[in-house]
Amino acid sequence: MSRQYDEHHRSVFIHEALHYLLSKQESGLYFDCTAGEGGHIRAILEATNGLSRVVGLDIDPEVLELAERNLKDFQGCFQLFNRSYVDFEDVLKQLGIAKVDGFLLDVGVSTFQLKSQGRGFSYEVDESLDMRMDPSRGMTAAEVVNSYQEKELARIIFEYGDEKRFARRIARSIVSRRPFYSTFDLVNAVKRAIPAEERYRRKKHFATRTFQAIRIEVNSELDNIERTLRRLPEYLNPGGRIVIISFHSLEDGIAKRVFREKMDSELKILTKKPIMPSEEEIELNLRARSARLRAAERI
Ligand SMILES: C[S@@+](CC[C@H](N)C(=O)[O-])C[C@H]1O[C@@H](n2cnc3c(N)ncnc32)[C@H](O)[C@@H]1O
Repeated sequence: MSRQYDEHHRSVFIHEALHYLLSKQESGLYFDCTAGEGGHIRAILEATNGLSRVVGLDIDPEVLELAERNLKDFQGCFQLFNRSYVDFEDVLKQLGIAKVDGFLLDVGVSTFQLKSQGRGFSYEVDESLDMRMDPSRGMTAAEVVNSYQEKELARIIFEYGDEKRFARRIARSIVSRRPFYSTFDLVNAVKRAIPAEERYRRKKHFATRTFQAIRIEVNSELDNIERTLRRLPEYLNPGGRIVIISFHSLEDGIAKRVFREKMDSELKILTKKPIMPSEEEIELNLRARSARLRAAERI
């Protein structure tokens, strides 16, 4: 499989993430649940003059190779693990760590994943319809669209894709065109379901929402966030922080709900409303447009 990658991931909310994560500490032990290309890890290490230690996890082995390379000059200050953040407790145990000073989650897909060939995340290139962030396990996007019932597909596209008007039509179009093998098979099914007028009216590609929805389903993204967020506070030192950056209202809704449930017993909420990107940040990085940041502190 050929791999090509020429566009770097631009980390979102660098300053805000540092502001909330580092609290008053000059250095500490931090856990980046979604290391990606290491952008936030680098920012933590730079801001604390290499005095902090960061443990980074990512489910995608290819992206971790990039992180390793990008962080070369901070050798010894970080450790990376090719694990799901759902398994963060195992990694803590393996390292003999009982508590940390901060957890960062920057959920969703990275530019690397969207742009690298052969992964099936993008509607722009025709390739195998995969979309798994962990390429070694789980159902591919092709298996999802080929096997799910029409009603379930419609729900996923409606809820996870915010495709409010055309979800049912897209699901019907998918079911009538099975089997699917490639990304363009799916693009064509979506195209048939959305009238030309609407397709041209949209600012984003007409398949964006459906691709997002199927990706969230393939990678159990919402379930993973909820299961993990609930368990993080237990592993924070008093005053330690959780920072979560999300890109979808459902993800942000989970963070809001879990923080509220733990308010007063385990957490103090630091962001009453989610932090939104500034116009400057959106100008620099279009992906930041839908980003939201929430933070909480261990009581
Ligand atoms: C938005 S990127 C993170 C970018 C990173 N903060 C940076 O500055 O370079 C999200 C990353 O989360 C990873 N990811 C998604 N689900 C995961 C999971 N369950 N466990 C660990 N990593 C996951 C993806 O592979 C992707 O690399």
